[in-house]
This record gives sequence, C-alpha cells and structure tokens, in this order.
Amino acid sequence: MSNVQRTWTINGKQTKLRFPPGRRLLDILRDDLGLTGSKESCGEGECGACTVLVNKEPVVSCILPAGQLVNGTDILTIEGIEKKRIGRVIQQAFLECGAVQCGFCIPGMVVAAYALLIKNPKPSVRAIREALAGNLCRCTGYTKIIQAVKLAATRMPQRK
Ligand code: FES
Ligand code: FES
Repeated sequence: MSNVQRTWTINGKQTKLRFPPGRRLLDILRDDLGLTGSKESCGEGECGACTVLVNKEPVVSCILPAGQLVNGTDILTIEGIEKKRIGRVIQQAFLECGAVQCGFCIPGMVVAAYALLIKNPKPSVRAIREALAGNLCRCTGYTKIIQAVKLAATRMPQRK
C-alpha cells in the first residue's frame, strides 16, 4: 500500500510525515521522531504505557493505525506535557509521593492524569481511578499514584 502524507501538530509543532497508512502511531513517535517517552509494554492496547493525547483525549498509540488520523490532528506526548506547567506539577507530585518504582508505566500515567486534570482540576478519588483505569502498573499497587494525582490537583495552576 502506498504511503500517505499527513501534517499534524505534535507537541505544539507542525510536523509533516509520510508513512504507510497502517503504521502504528507509537512507531512513528518513537522510531521516526525519536519521542521515546511513550513506552511499549503489551503492544496490544491493554496496559496504557504508550498513552498519548490525540485531540486532548488519551489513546493507546500501540494499536492506532496512524493513517486514521487526519491532517490537523493535535498530538501531545509526554515530552510535550512535561514542558507544560500542569505536566511539571504532576511529575513533581509523583516524585514527592514516591509513586514511581521501575517507572515504565509512569509516562502513560502522567499523560492520563494530565488529560483528567485539564478537564477536571478537582477530581474525586473515584474520578482519578476511572481516569487511570486503562493504565496498568505492576510495581506500586496504585495507592501512591492516586495520592500523587490528588496532590497535583491541590496545586493546579490557574493557567495551563
Ligand atoms: S503498550 Fe500500548 S497499551 Fe500496552
Ligand atoms: S512503576 Fe513499574 S510498572 Fe508502574
């Protein structure tokens, strides 16, 4: 199948790409663009390690054929989020709460937490659990991750 051409905004930058339409978004991000913060763990859409935001919604990029994304799609990865104030607040809260062990799940967790907090800056514990339900962590038992998102919510800046 012939390549398709797309222009997306990736982490705030207009980016023109050519790729086979079935190429996974995760491969484009990691292999073509060097954005290796998004991780591949299960590769089957089950664990959330590869989560990025597409038009502000969290998606698992390991099962997303990139040809489905039209021109003008807005993509935010962990590399873009960590440059934003809210992203830094979330990362700091994860550090302070000791919410990181091996760290492999954490980029996806931070992306999912960011997606939650930009829409709902004062989430309940239930809302946090629901927002992170697609992100699996084999190390932490989740308690400290939930605490970290709660702490970040208490520090949400006015401007995003
Ligand atoms: S690596 Fe994509 S969901 Fe697990
Ligand atoms: S910290 Fe190891 S998988 Fe979450």
